[in-house]
Amino acid sequence: MAFGWIDEQAELRRRAGLVRTLRPRPADSPLLDLASNDYLGLARHPEVTEGAAAAARTWGGGATGSRLVTGTTELHGELERELAEHCGFEAALVFSSGYAANLAAVTALAPHGSLIVSDAGNHASLIDGCRLARGTTQVVGHADPDAVRKALGTHDGPAVAVSDTVFSVDGDAAPLAALAAACREYGAGLVVDDAHGLGVLGEGGQGAPYAAGLAGADDVVVTVTLSKSLGSQGGAVLGPARVIEHLVNAARTFIFDTGLAPAAAGAALAALRLLRREPQRAARARAVAGELHARVTAAGLAAVRPDAAVVSVRAPSPEGAVRWAADCRSAGLAVGCFRPPSVPDGISRLRLTARADLSGAELERAVQVIGETRP
Ligand SMILES: Cc1ncc(COP(=O)(O)O)c(C=O)c1O
Repeated sequence: MAFGWIDEQAELRRRAGLVRTLRPRPADSPLLDLASNDYLGLARHPEVTEGAAAAARTWGGGATGSRLVTGTTELHGELERELAEHCGFEAALVFSSGYAANLAAVTALAPHGSLIVSDAGNHASLIDGCRLARGTTQVVGHADPDAVRKALGTHDGPAVAVSDTVFSVDGDAAPLAALAAACREYGAGLVVDDAHGLGVLGEGGQGAPYAAGLAGADDVVVTVTLSKSLGSQGGAVLGPARVIEHLVNAARTFIFDTGLAPAAAGAALAALRLLRREPQRAARARAVAGELHARVTAAGLAAVRPDAAVVSVRAPSPEGAVRWAADCRSAGLAVGCFRPPSVPDGISRLRLTARADLSGAELERAVQVIGETRP
């Protein structure tokens, strides 16, 4: 039977407690949200939703074509200029998602004969970039600049190291300055995914590379998503102008993809302007994460100290994590639940996001629910 093997896989997934299901979210959800990536609480901010609506009215419901044909509006150009300026890089290029931006950066910067040194904890989109690239990938231990140095030392030819800046599962930060130093010893480039750093790290949310003193470096390329702190949708690559020009000419997920929808560009631009006007939102997200971590550990739970706005709490098993998250939901709290294969070390976790707009009372309620429902 066609696709018969799917049933066998489904049965294996069921037995392992790894079945995933979609749960449509109502517009007026009563749940307290510690599951989304809306770190600055901007997705429903009136300026952001109006940015989306105004852009749709002006430019239409879609971009109408790929970026090199009709899909680049003046709005895309504005967003690229302001993103680059905010993060401290020479130029930026907007993509239809952060996933597409990562595929573009890795594939276009790792040609045939090159080496990609990839952190074992990297996001799936960086991993897929490595899989699609013509270069050879060497996976190294998590957050280990010496391992990067050792790998680069074995290769003769172009090379890049790729890493998340803030790892999405545990919320820990990569040692960016040490990684850059390792790359420089070997004339290699550094490509970092700042999906969870933009809007949170750096005094005014300029991101992890800026905070590490790497903004504007000619050997550093940064990818970001517009879907987390900026409360919209889409992605971007930031870096030296010559790299961005190369991507326009060589990155397949740029060339063969319809441009970012104007509404998403308008929302992201409005959120970025809001953040630049109110830079304290970034510090507030970091402070909420610190407070959430303190409360969770005071309740006797094992949690990783957050470097940005993600607090990861250890669960006993995949089934235990799923049950825990479901019990939280029944008690009015939405939390994220990470299980294999999303977790490289096989340890399941609850993933809590510290939004800048959470109040002390909401944090107290959240931690009470998490403690009471613990398996
Ligand atoms: C670290 C990281 N990189 C990239 C992405 C992909 O970004 P997008 O959702 O914009 O495709 C995500 C998650 O969404 C992520 O967590």
